[in-house]
Amino acid sequence: MKALVLAGGKGTRLRPITHTIPKQLVPVANKPILHYVMDQLKDAGIKDVGVIIAPETGDLIKDSLSKNPWNHNFTFILQDEPLGLAHAVKVARDYLGNDSFIMYLGDNLIGESICSFVKTFEAENPDALILLKEVSNPSSFGVAVVNSNGKVKKLIEKPKRPPSNLALVGVYIFTPQIHEIIESLKPSWRGEYEITDAIQGLLDNGGNVLPHVLKGWWLDTGKKDDLLEANTIVLDEFLKKDIKGKIDGETKISGRVKIEETAVIKNSTIKGPVIIGENTIIENSFIGPYTSIGNNVKIIDSVIQNSVVLDSAEITKIDRLEDSLIGKYAKLHRKENSHRAYRVSIGDYSEIEL
Ligand code: DAU
Repeated sequence: MKALVLAGGKGTRLRPITHTIPKQLVPVANKPILHYVMDQLKDAGIKDVGVIIAPETGDLIKDSLSKNPWNHNFTFILQDEPLGLAHAVKVARDYLGNDSFIMYLGDNLIGESICSFVKTFEAENPDALILLKEVSNPSSFGVAVVNSNGKVKKLIEKPKRPPSNLALVGVYIFTPQIHEIIESLKPSWRGEYEITDAIQGLLDNGGNVLPHVLKGWWLDTGKKDDLLEANTIVLDEFLKKDIKGKIDGETKISGRVKIEETAVIKNSTIKGPVIIGENTIIENSFIGPYTSIGNNVKIIDSVIQNSVVLDSAEITKIDRLEDSLIGKYAKLHRKENSHRAYRVSIGDYSEIEL
């Protein structure tokens, strides 16, 4: 089975961060979301991976996958405009040929292996299999109605009045039948060719669409709070203690902490779960639980917790920074003595004096 990973689109919801990083490359626990997708595909034994890329961000996506620790056979497929998920499938038509394929949205993180999802498809042989998750805010997603015999009856994209609380997670398995339906698809009210409408088309033609409900967590990392939550869960579940780096005698480290070899920590307290990247310098600071600090970051005389700090950011003399997302090359310095907690979402290259 081939995979089609969608890493195109515009990524407007995480702005300003996604002005310079495609949302699929936003790191969770210092690893791009897209790399977790590749881990999942490897785990399911899938090797041939088509990746949909956009003209603006395609090179960044290619670079990020170039080390290829998964040994996937990548094929990059350019989608000129983000005209929708079904449009992406249409653009990949030649690559996909007449095989069944798993389609995976490149900005989604799920906390459960997809192996049983793939096995269900192989055992049941439906026309399509869709991954669903019960959510409290279904109107933000595609929503499915499942009937009493466990088959999908109806699908609606971002309904105002959701008929169920089962959201489409963004992982699907299709047979080649989907291509015919997509050929005759019309754009939706938001001007996109919706994969949700294509699956509804399969149902309208008498197709057998089966649901697979995810039991573990799912994070659609579109917004700052989702990203912080994803960071918390991943640090909680996957971070292993691994302390390298240059650490002086005044520094106290407790809990599960990962520090890369070239990081320098002086006179600071680090309380895990925390991850600290390459060439990062931390001095006279407190780094509290659920914080991911990228590479080449400088944190001096500051207190920070439950936050994500991207590469090359600088934070100085900040008394208490929490629940925050700091973009690449952003600089955050305090001038006077104030003792308030700040909550911020700062885009790449911005500079703030508090
Ligand atoms: O996250 C799950 C939701 O994803 C589903 O519940 C919805 O049914 C589904 O339509 C989709 O909705 P979104 O509005 O969240 O999709 P978004 O525009 O964020 O795109 C999802 C991924 O696909 C993202 O990695 C960008 C990529 N993409 C998107 C479009 C529109 C492309 O590669 N090409 C595109 O044309």
